[in-house]
Amino acid sequence: MRNSIQFFACTLAILLVLSIFSGCVPAVVNVPGNTPDPTIIDISPDQTPEPDFTPAPTLTLEPIFSPAPTIDPTAYQDKKLVALTFDDGPSRRATGRILDTLEEYGVVATFFVVGKASPSQEDSESLKRDRHALMKRAVEMGCEIGNHTMEHKYLTQLTALEILEQINGVNDIVFEATGTTPTLVRPPYGSKSQLVFDTVQFPLILWSIDTRDWETRNADKTYNAVMNYVRDGDIVLMHDLYESTAEAVERIVPALLEQGFTLVTVSQLFQYRGIEITAGNFYRGANDAA
Ligand code: NI
Repeated sequence: MRNSIQFFACTLAILLVLSIFSGCVPAVVNVPGNTPDPTIIDISPDQTPEPDFTPAPTLTLEPIFSPAPTIDPTAYQDKKLVALTFDDGPSRRATGRILDTLEEYGVVATFFVVGKASPSQEDSESLKRDRHALMKRAVEMGCEIGNHTMEHKYLTQLTALEILEQINGVNDIVFEATGTTPTLVRPPYGSKSQLVFDTVQFPLILWSIDTRDWETRNADKTYNAVMNYVRDGDIVLMHDLYESTAEAVERIVPALLEQGFTLVTVSQLFQYRGIEITAGNFYRGANDAA
């Protein structure tokens, strides 16, 4: 009897050693109750684990966020889509008023936010609170928050580490304010380079219509910059910093709806058109401008 146990143990040990050399089992065998030593293969007869034929229980992980709604690919096929985007905010001056307009018409937009209202100084506590509240309100309305970096620098002039700090800082702030994390990055000035593509782990979103609202500060000109050129699949660049832009939006939104456009977030625009957007690439829109 003892001989047969020894024979069994011996055979098992030989088989295990052979398996290890042929790569069938990992080189470390953890024996329950013992601290595993990565350098020692410890197989003594009384510690050889019984073969366990019970199937491992299936682990069900609860999703932290609700899964994205399933999109019926045909639902938006015949619709003209446009994504309004607002950069450099949120600001007390214009963001709330723009949100009021979006809410009034039950439509959405995307806000590419910066981490600090002014790159040269820290936000005061009350400004921080207001900016957080604006982002939270936008998310609750179904709008998307994108990342426009902490300090609005040319990413092409930064090291990889500095680029990451510029991106991660904003994602932390947006998560703190809204419980969601941006998945899109708009590089300041649209500046991009191979290092930017390699470093930023999110798709880079540019635009197909540049209203130049920051330059004209004129609601009529901003309105015309959109309405004279807008096509299905466009991404429109504006800035939620100026009252003139907020005023233009009060006219742009109803005019777009009148022309049969559906206003969507940037992520929805690509999703509804079946375009997969990936890190390391940049996108201008979901039409031939892409
Ligand atoms: Ni900007």
